[in-house]
Amino acid sequence: MTISVFVGTSVDGFIARPNGDLDFLPEGGGEPHGYTEFIASVDAIVLGRKSFEKVLTFEPWPYGAKRVVVLSSRPVDLAAAKGGTVEQMAGTPAEIVSRLAASGAHHLYIDGGITIQGFLRAGLIQRLTITHVPVLIGEGVPLFGSLPRDVRLQHVATRHYPSGLVQTEYRIGG
Ligand SMILES: NC(=O)c1ccc[n+]([C@@H]2O[C@H](COP(=O)([O-])OP(=O)(O)OC[C@H]3O[C@@H](n4cnc5c(N)ncnc54)[C@H](OP(=O)(O)O)[C@@H]3O)[C@@H](O)[C@H]2O)c1
Repeated sequence: MTISVFVGTSVDGFIARPNGDLDFLPEGGGEPHGYTEFIASVDAIVLGRKSFEKVLTFEPWPYGAKRVVVLSSRPVDLAAAKGGTVEQMAGTPAEIVSRLAASGAHHLYIDGGITIQGFLRAGLIQRLTITHVPVLIGEGVPLFGSLPRDVRLQHVATRHYPSGLVQTEYRIGG
């Protein structure tokens, strides 16, 4: 099982404004920077409930028929994701990964700040691709949070794009 993060942040490390707005990210995802190829390579997108609620405001549903797993400890209206293939799970990151592995998934895409932080703390993320958008927004929803110990990163590549996006790819562990 490969478990990846592919996320866009402000240079000061925020994935959304405090109210959840994403208006500081380039419109339409910005110039091509590997997202299309990345998402084609994943078997399931594991989305925190708050990110799921944000994605529901996008028209149309952006993930097509790709399997999406919404994490929440409470009932979630999955039918609101019209045209999507969406299910719900709860549990520890390790439990979620073993359930998805048992159902045949080989590559997971973990998304949402709190959700990414939980999988990082559990030592389950192997690939981390962060695309920095050239803006400082001062406050917001942080990508990273507290950790029980340092997480050593192995730098794989840094790519930069004409619009100012700077993407850094790391491997963790192994
Ligand atoms: N810039 C980007 O690329 C990017 C990417 C993704 C998201 N975002 C933005 O980030 C914001 C949301 O991020 P966030 O950090 O606030 O939250 P989040 O990670 O999307 O969602 C957190 C929620 O997910 C549920 N959850 C997480 N792990 C769980 C587990 N192991 N078991 C059960 N439930 C679990 C919990 O829901 P319950 O409280 O229901 O139990 C938790 O409150 C949104 O504004 C979104 O648009 C930006």
